[in-house]
Amino acid sequence: MIHVQKNIQLKSFNTFGIKAHARYFCVIHSEQDLEELIKLPVFKNEKRLFLGGGSNILFTKDFDGLIIKNELTGKAIVEQDEDRLLLNVKSGENWHQLVMFCLKNDWGGIENLSLIPGTVGAAPIQNIGAYGVEMKDVIENVEVINVTSGAKTIFNNAACSFGYRESIFKTQLKEKYFISSVTLSLTKKNHQLNINYGAIKDTLLQQQVAAITIQTISDAVVKIRKSKLPDPSLVGNAGSFFKNPTLTYDEFTRIKKIDTSMPYYTTENQSVKIPAGWLIEQCGWKGKRINNIGVHQHQALVLVNYGDGNGEDIFELSTQIASSVKDKFDIILATEVNIV
Ligand code: EPU
Repeated sequence: MIHVQKNIQLKSFNTFGIKAHARYFCVIHSEQDLEELIKLPVFKNEKRLFLGGGSNILFTKDFDGLIIKNELTGKAIVEQDEDRLLLNVKSGENWHQLVMFCLKNDWGGIENLSLIPGTVGAAPIQNIGAYGVEMKDVIENVEVINVTSGAKTIFNNAACSFGYRESIFKTQLKEKYFISSVTLSLTKKNHQLNINYGAIKDTLLQQQVAAITIQTISDAVVKIRKSKLPDPSLVGNAGSFFKNPTLTYDEFTRIKKIDTSMPYYTTENQSVKIPAGWLIEQCGWKGKRINNIGVHQHQALVLVNYGDGNGEDIFELSTQIASSVKDKFDIILATEVNIV
């Protein structure tokens, strides 16, 4: 039985720790709950928002509609042989706990994605990625429910149109489907160890580990993340606030003349990615604090709420940052975080 509450404080439901209210709020624990919910007038008539861990969202005002908190849980092996397995995971499961569960079973594939906040269902929407691995590398398929008809569909990996922090669920199909579960393709042996990302190599060397395993990679990632990224349970934040901008090679050649020390990575499709954190740091923002909000001192790509900061002020700070990057480098920064 669905219980729709009114006028609910959202501070504990978003990792930025923003105080905003939802006009209506409910929790779903199963697909049956969703089936029941979509028949209710409040679901049909109100603006709605599905919320996972609230770790990639900035509330700039109260939400004048229905927030649906996803708490669908459960994991099941759907297929396996000696080498691989397909693991189906319900979308409300916590992402990092899933990574830890896989490590305990010695299942490889998602260890580089350790300590990313949020839920399993949110992970494919923005194709989470870190330290050389993206969610798309391990997704077999995504099971979705049409929020108008209640019909279930399965999207295979190609149908999800994954890109850098992008998927079809963020673009053409935005708000059309609820992700109910994700099936991951994982290795049981001969794990592919992704240690090419500079920081991982350096950390593994420092730690002088006897053998590189999926566990030591995860440990290294956790160490790096803890040293650079603020813990949302201590300081409000939503990870990278902006995406790293992608330039064509011609644009890059022109812009690099502004500062020849500009770091960059070439991508598969012959474009060039610039670390937004570097651009923001060059504009003097790193570590800047304005009352209760600011730019993290170890990673300029992360905006933080030190206490009772409000979402509108954080958004305003982000527009000032983007406009100074535009003025200095002629590069437009796009937000990674969903602004509501
Ligand atoms: N840098 C600076 N100053 C800064 C921050 C970064 O100069 O304040 C430069 C440095 O040159 C550094 C480079 O940026 O070597 C890359 O920094 P980092 O390894 O921290 O990665 P990032 O590009 O800033 C991306 C993801 C992170 C992910 C890391 C590691 C995006 C938008 N962000 O950050 O993802 O953890 O790579 O793979 O792609 C997130 O999406 O929320 C997130 C944290």
